Amino acid sequence: MTTTQPVQDVTNTDPNGPDADWWRQAVVYQIYPRSFADANGDGIGDLQGIISRIDYLERLGIDAVWLSPFYPSALADGGYDVDDYRDIDPRIGTLPEFDAMVERLHAAGIKLIIDIVPNHSSNRHAWFEQAVAAGPGSPERDRYIFRDGRGADGELPPSDWQSIFGGPAWTRVPDGQWYLHLFAPEQPDWNWQNEDVRTDFLATLKFWGDRGVDGFRIDVAHALTKDLPDELPSRADLEDGTSFPEGAHPIWDRDEVHEIYAEWRRLFNSYAPPLAAVAEAWVPAHRRIRYAHPESLGQAFNFDLLQAPWDADRFRTIITENLDLARQSGASSTWVFSNHDVVRHVTRFGLIAQNDAEDPWSPSAGREWLRAGGPADGVDLEVGLKRARAATLMALALPGSAYLYQGEELGLSEVAEIPDDQRQDPTFFRTGGEDVGRDGCRVPLPWTVDGPSYGFGPGPSHLPQPEWFGRYAVQLQSDQPGSTLELYRRAMELRHRLQGAEELEWLDAEDQVLAFRRPGGWVSITNFGDIPVPLPDGELLIITERTDRDLPAYAGAWVKTPE
Ligand code: NOJ
Repeated sequence: MTTTQPVQDVTNTDPNGPDADWWRQAVVYQIYPRSFADANGDGIGDLQGIISRIDYLERLGIDAVWLSPFYPSALADGGYDVDDYRDIDPRIGTLPEFDAMVERLHAAGIKLIIDIVPNHSSNRHAWFEQAVAAGPGSPERDRYIFRDGRGADGELPPSDWQSIFGGPAWTRVPDGQWYLHLFAPEQPDWNWQNEDVRTDFLATLKFWGDRGVDGFRIDVAHALTKDLPDELPSRADLEDGTSFPEGAHPIWDRDEVHEIYAEWRRLFNSYAPPLAAVAEAWVPAHRRIRYAHPESLGQAFNFDLLQAPWDADRFRTIITENLDLARQSGASSTWVFSNHDVVRHVTRFGLIAQNDAEDPWSPSAGREWLRAGGPADGVDLEVGLKRARAATLMALALPGSAYLYQGEELGLSEVAEIPDDQRQDPTFFRTGGEDVGRDGCRVPLPWTVDGPSYGFGPGPSHLPQPEWFGRYAVQLQSDQPGSTLELYRRAMELRHRLQGAEELEWLDAEDQVLAFRRPGGWVSITNFGDIPVPLPDGELLIITERTDRDLPAYAGAWVKTPE
């Protein structure tokens, strides 16, 4: 028995033109700009570096780039602490260089999505500096979330809340008031009840829309609107969350956040084609559809596979649920295994303890291993790489869009060997090293086998690259049959040829095997188990491991099946 899962008719019904649905099945490649390519040799990746690698991106076969923050920033949180939303960090480039990059990407047929960080600015943003200077009760202060403290002299923070990176969520300013920061103290939260904030963000979105960007990735999209009563709930209540009705938690995922996005959507739809937007919203699956609704942002990240153990049943359940959710929201689903916030999936899938344990997984999978210094016997990178390649090949066969993170096309694993004094992530500092943080997936890419920073640039690299990096270099993998880079290239070339309606039909398969057919008569098959299984009859289009006949352990393939 097979079950057909119709998902969405991809016919473009939008009056704005044939390209309006470009994002529905796009492969989007995330560039973390400080670590991609460094043209000027200062150790920090830049826009000229990206421009110099557009031929690489074109050959990779991606449809769009998602560019992580490039704004002026003190880098308290890797650029997610924005000083000025309508400018470029001078270490990264200039506005004319940005324009040139957009033009060059578009000429290569690649769209551009940029990161918008609307929950918080940096503490160096002009409005925050004005808010601190203007004092309690001022209109300037109302743009952020300031409160008096508790205790006889207000010396205690307004509540016992902890920030996401560890440590208190409130910081005191010289006149005695406290401001809220869900993340680092350098990232004060905006007050979205303030009209200036709303108007200014619309101006920012328009600024970039007018410069030719094709869409936005919305950072912490589920935290903008807050309802903070005089008597603040305790940290325990806040984190437990069950005492608040759905959609009415004081901070997270409040229903009215969509009023903001409805206004943004009207702006996005004034462009032809409409600007795309994808929400980073860590919310339960059934709440995700609100962000993905066409009158809200239009698409939302689905991080379910990223948090899943290597298990066929778990993968199948997640895929089925998410295709259903996509249908309900009117959006397409998004598939992602790696990004700049999580341990690279080669390492996650190779962690022996994680994969052998009963209930092994958490969003910070791999952090235990990293904290222990990344012991070699705790991870099997050979297995991890096989599984990662198979997982990605399967994701690229699914209906919907796929988000890739720079370096995964090289099969990079997490860099464990970063000395403490060279770490940058606030998570490391604010947890006293308890959580080593996210630097291990942000190490600048190896382009060449040797050279001062393995071809990242003519100078050093802002995070130390390990001695094994050269073995993963683009130079070594390009045109090398069987390399991970060639696997990605071939998969994307095929995907462009094969991708049709957003439909999927599950096929019967043995235990630990997932197989589904896509319109046009091609099948994706993935072997999660450790013994080979037969391949379906037909023309083998692509396979992650060389084989004579069978599909090896931890391998994936696409097969064109007879009509
Ligand atoms: C999510 C981003 O992906 C992460 O890198 C950042 O630290 C937080 N949001 C805060 O902006």
